[in-house]
Order: sequence, then structure tokens, then C-alpha cells
Amino acid sequence: MAEKTAYTQAAVSGKYDKSSGLLGKYDNVRRFWEDQLTGIFLRPSLNDLVQRKSERMERLRILDIGCGNGDGYDLIMDVNSKDAGIFEYITAAITDDRLQTYVGLDINEELLQQAQAGYGQNPKVQFVQADLSNGLPDATLEAPPFDLYFSSYGTFSHFDTEQTVRLMADVCRHASDGALFVGDWLGRYAYEWQDLWHHPVDQEYWMNYRISYIYPEAERDRHDVATFPLRLLCADEILSMAQAAGKAAGCTLRPVKLFDRSVLIGRHMDTGDYNRHCPKMRYAVNSLFEGYTRTDLESVRVNYVPRPGFDALNHHFEMFFMAVNTLVDYTIALLAHHDPGQGVVGNVPEIQPYYPEPLKETMQAMRRVIEGVGWLQWGDVRANVIEPHLGYCLRKLEMELQQGMGTGHSLCGIFEIKK
Ligand SMILES: C[S@@+](CC[C@H](N)C(=O)[O-])C[C@H]1O[C@@H](n2cnc3c(N)ncnc32)[C@H](O)[C@@H]1O
Repeated sequence: MAEKTAYTQAAVSGKYDKSSGLLGKYDNVRRFWEDQLTGIFLRPSLNDLVQRKSERMERLRILDIGCGNGDGYDLIMDVNSKDAGIFEYITAAITDDRLQTYVGLDINEELLQQAQAGYGQNPKVQFVQADLSNGLPDATLEAPPFDLYFSSYGTFSHFDTEQTVRLMADVCRHASDGALFVGDWLGRYAYEWQDLWHHPVDQEYWMNYRISYIYPEAERDRHDVATFPLRLLCADEILSMAQAAGKAAGCTLRPVKLFDRSVLIGRHMDTGDYNRHCPKMRYAVNSLFEGYTRTDLESVRVNYVPRPGFDALNHHFEMFFMAVNTLVDYTIALLAHHDPGQGVVGNVPEIQPYYPEPLKETMQAMRRVIEGVGWLQWGDVRANVIEPHLGYCLRKLEMELQQGMGTGHSLCGIFEIKK
């Protein structure tokens, strides 16, 4: 009887559910690509900040604006201190003893309850309910300044220009010189919503965002899919709001880096809700990262369909997807010609001198990986080593062949507050 109760308890808790990285909020792309890419771009500024604080014998104070269920805490605490050597195992930029406090603000009570359940046992972590559409709440403005004013996964796309400028200006007034602000919006020109590109850029544009991707494809039509407005932006719109906020607060929000996240693998690539031509790249890349699951590499290719009248964007995407396809084709060829007996690849296709540098580097890396491990007879090296590495190479292409213009699902800005 006790046994039955224990199994029932386990089943009801959800902890007994079969887990996979192929679908869901915390799919492989979210963990190995999106969170990591944000962290890699944030790493230099965060390391500088930690260094400056250490030199003053101070610990870090972090404010997460629109924290939801508190995922930003792990994202920040998982950022590496540097490109760690292979032998090191403690690599965090902010070790627990360097953190003074993390405060998460959000309007949504249910999400805050989840956040509290997940992180509330940590005495340095605090969650506060607040509507941020009128700026930072009084209690936050009265607290000592933070060192990092952080947001993630599109939170700032909930605010119009006036609200954004007010919120950023409040951050500027509250912060000390040298603090960091990280804003996270949705990009105006993602391939996954190519149908929406035509809206005039001199006007705010709010898309009707469907969270259709939470349902498996076969079930999507049967559900009443929730929609809500989210603002799409390009780099110029963000920079002009940052300038206005700095001016209002009498300081400067200096842009350190603007970057696109999820150009190739945004969640709506798979739904086709806003561009029926999109290939299901998120599922394909999730599969690359999934252990003991082999991927049809042809499914990781993109047959880009240009939109007439958008020459500069078409040119950018043509080049980017050509690079992706070239790397995938090269990997397919390497696998086809790999000789496990010799541990080498015969008939290697040529790496052309005119290929962009990141493409050349990833092609060379894939060859070294396949020649290095392809001979192993156990542990399914194709599924468990080679395919994940192709995933990381594609991520590198996304990071290095972009301009931070708003061509991804998200557009993030790292700013330094200069007083
Ligand atoms: C896309 S979610 C991101 C959540 C979290 N940062 C993450 O990475 O998972 C946007 C968050 O902004 C919050 N939000 C939207 N409007 C808000 C407002 N007016 N004031 C405070 N929070 C708001 C939502 O409740 C939601 O948690």
C-alpha cells in the first residue's frame, strides 16, 4: 500500500514524466543555444563588472526586470568567468560568495509564486510583485543601487516607447556610474515572421504573439491558442530610446553590444504561423543536441524564400543561410567519406578561400571532431558527440555572422551607464 502511494505521489508530482530536450520551454535549444549565447555575449562586460566590484571589496547586486519564474538567476549565475581551460571545473563569473543580492520584479503573481518555489530558499534572492509600466516601483528606487539591471526573453517588448524610456531613465537615475543595463526585445526582422516585415519602421509595431508552439503540431488546431501583443523592434528604435532615457536622467546609456538571438532557431520557425516557408529548424537543432538520437542532417538546411522589396535583409539572410547549408553539406560529406579504420576522411570537399572566416573555422572544427572521434565503436559518437558539435558550430555562425539589427526572434542590448 505504502509502495502504491509512493508511486502515485511520484506520478502526480510530474517528476516521473518522461523528459526530453526535443520540446517544451526548457528544450535543448533554450539550454544549449539561447541561454548560452546570451551568456557568451554578456561575459566580457560581466567579468569587467565583477573585477571592478572586487577591487572595491564589494559584492554584486542584481535586479531582474520582468523576472517571470526567476530563470534569469540561473542564466546570470551560469555565465563563465572566461574561456575556461579544459582542466578547470569552477568557471562561474559570479561565484555565490560574490553575490550580495538578486531581486526579481514581475507583475504576474503565479510566475512569482513559481519563482519563490524554485529559488525562495536562497536568502540572497527576493521576488517582488510590481507593475513596471510606470517605471521602477518606489521601494526599488529607495533601495541601494544595483550593479546589473537585467532583463531576458523579450520582457521589454511589453512596453511602448514612453514606458520604456521611463523605465530605462529610472534605471539610469538609480544606478551608479559603470552599472550595466541589459534590455531584451523581439526583433522586427526575424525570418520566422517575414509576413510582418512591411510595417513602417517609423511607427511602433505590435505583433499578435501566439504561444502555439507549446502544443505538439498535430494538436495545435484543436486548442484555443492564447495571443497577446508584443512589440517588434530594430536596433535604431532601441538606440533612440536609450538616448532619450539617458537625456531624461542626465547621463549616458552607452551601447556596449547589440546582438540578435535565435536567428536560425526561434520558436516560430517550427509553427510557420507568420511565415509558412520556414523549415522546422528548432526541432531539427533540438535533435542535434539530443543524446542517442540521430538527426536527418538534410532537415537542418534552409531553403530561404526572399521577400521582394527587402533587398538588404534578403542579402543578409541569403548569405547567412548559405553559410549554414554549406556547413551542413560539408558535415554530411565528411560523414559519408569517413573511414573508421584509418580515422580519416577521404575526398574532403574544399574549403573555399572566399568563405566567411566563421564558416571556415566551423568546417575545420567539424573535420577535426569527426576524424578525432569517428572511429569510436561505442556510445553512438554520431548522436552524442558529432551532432551536438554541429549544433555548437551553427550557434557560432549565428553569433559571428550577425549585426545585431533585429533579424532574430530576440534583439538584446547591453549598455553601460555613464554618469
Ligand atoms: C517573456 S516573459 C520573460 C520572463 C523571464 N524574464 C524569463 O526569462 O523567463 C516577460 C515577463 O514580463 C512580465 N511583464 C509583462 N508586463 C509587465 C509589467 N507591466 N510589469 C512587470 N512585469 C511585466 C511578464 O509577467 C513576464 O513574466
